[in-house]
Amino acid sequence: MSFILLLLDWYHTHKRPLPWRLERKVFNVWLSEIILQQTRVNQGLNYYEKFVNHFSDVHELAKADEQLVLNLWQGLGYYTRARNLHKTAKIISNDFHGEFPNNFNDLKKLPGIGPYTAAAIASICFDEKVPAIDGNAYRVYARLFGLDKDISDSNAHKFYFNYVLEIMPNENTGDFNEAIMELGATICMPQSPKCKDCPIAESCVAYQTGRIEKYPVKTKK
Ligand code: ADE
Repeated sequence: MSFILLLLDWYHTHKRPLPWRLERKVFNVWLSEIILQQTRVNQGLNYYEKFVNHFSDVHELAKADEQLVLNLWQGLGYYTRARNLHKTAKIISNDFHGEFPNNFNDLKKLPGIGPYTAAAIASICFDEKVPAIDGNAYRVYARLFGLDKDISDSNAHKFYFNYVLEIMPNENTGDFNEAIMELGATICMPQSPKCKDCPIAESCVAYQTGRIEKYPVKTKK
């Protein structure tokens, strides 16, 4: 079986029942992705709950005082994320009648939404075929395909993006991206990855050649 089917099967049986996975509403997916940009799922969960309990939709968030948003964010760090969250909420509420853009290129124009977050939202909510590449995805793809591209190179993102675009499925692109995230978080960790439990170890170049610790290649901090 192709690694894609094995990966998606594994994801469907093993994925954690995270709240933003129950309903694929853009507001909820966007909020979760902003929170998870520099934060682990376990820590981010409480904050996600706090925000959806305070703000039922993007208009409520847009109307809130910036100070309230910053107070709710307290403890997560990287406060630029909270400021950009609020800025984007105002743009969506005031200029877009509450509707988020439904594609990668337009999502990327919003404050706080970079290529990774735009790809996550566009694939999860709109099934657009765009790879979501963050630090965890670099590691998973580098090992899986035996990619020697240095991830500290300035064009590393472009290289991985184009590479993955060629191999990712045309449908279920959100599940595919989230399956890679889930694999990176629970199996294909930086240290001591659990290759024995990995659904795609048979296709993994690094595993098959005994070079797990060589990937990803990173020369600079
Ligand atoms: N990290 C970033 N986005 C995520 C998601 N949608 N699911 C799990 N972990 C994530």
